[in-house]
Amino acid sequence: MSTREIVYQPEKYWDRLFAPGGHVGIVTSVDTQGRVNAASYATCVRIVHNPVQIAFTTSMKGHTRENILATNEFVVNLPSFERKILEAVRVAGLPFEKGVNELEKAGLTAIPSQTVKSPRIEECTRHFECEVVWTKEWLGRMMVVGNVLAASVWAGYVDSKGYLLWDKIKPVAFAGAPYFNTFVAATEIMSVGMPYEGPEVSAGEASNRSYFEDI
Ligand SMILES: Cc1cc2nc3c(=O)[nH]c(=O)nc-3n(C[C@H](O)[C@H](O)[C@H](O)COP(=O)(O)O)c2cc1C
Repeated sequence: MSTREIVYQPEKYWDRLFAPGGHVGIVTSVDTQGRVNAASYATCVRIVHNPVQIAFTTSMKGHTRENILATNEFVVNLPSFERKILEAVRVAGLPFEKGVNELEKAGLTAIPSQTVKSPRIEECTRHFECEVVWTKEWLGRMMVVGNVLAASVWAGYVDSKGYLLWDKIKPVAFAGAPYFNTFVAATEIMSVGMPYEGPEVSAGEASNRSYFEDI
């Protein structure tokens, strides 16, 4: 019999309870004329490990949706938990007119991508160049799933095996609605043991190994 008190939360708090629910990102895209667009998204989630695929949801009104449907590509740029870039995230989230380059408005630097026309953002520590796999519209929103074609990171911000140096990268999540200006940092990594001895352990490890074998 548990002695811990556990409380159900009302629906209006579910979003906050799931924080961090995904990474905050600035999605860059281009329109059919090649004009750059950038917008902030709190819903960026890596949904498949191998091949690496990233999803986010967007409103039906935005230029990001329009560009992605027209060009089938985008870049997810991940900021760190640093005030200056997070302020730029807020600027990129403002409703500028179509054709306005939010990177210029936010004082951010566009650098060319290797595989897509959408640029990377120099001030973001990580960049994922994506081709669209599928989109789905529901509840007045659109979910976008992208297949990563190339990914880059600030030199010296990952170890030789590609693991994040957490104290440098400082991943950042969104604290939950309605806090459009409040962010959460995750800075610790911990490898944990297996406090169970049974035949399922070796089977589980074998299946994990085959799942992650190319990573
Ligand atoms: C921190 C932050 C997170 C946001 N997350 C999302 C999101 O997950 N989905 C969404 O549709 N809009 C989100 N927005 C709002 C969009 O960035 C905003 O609507 C933007 O103007 C869309 O730009 P676009 O028209 O260039 O696509 C967020 C804004 C901020 C500041």
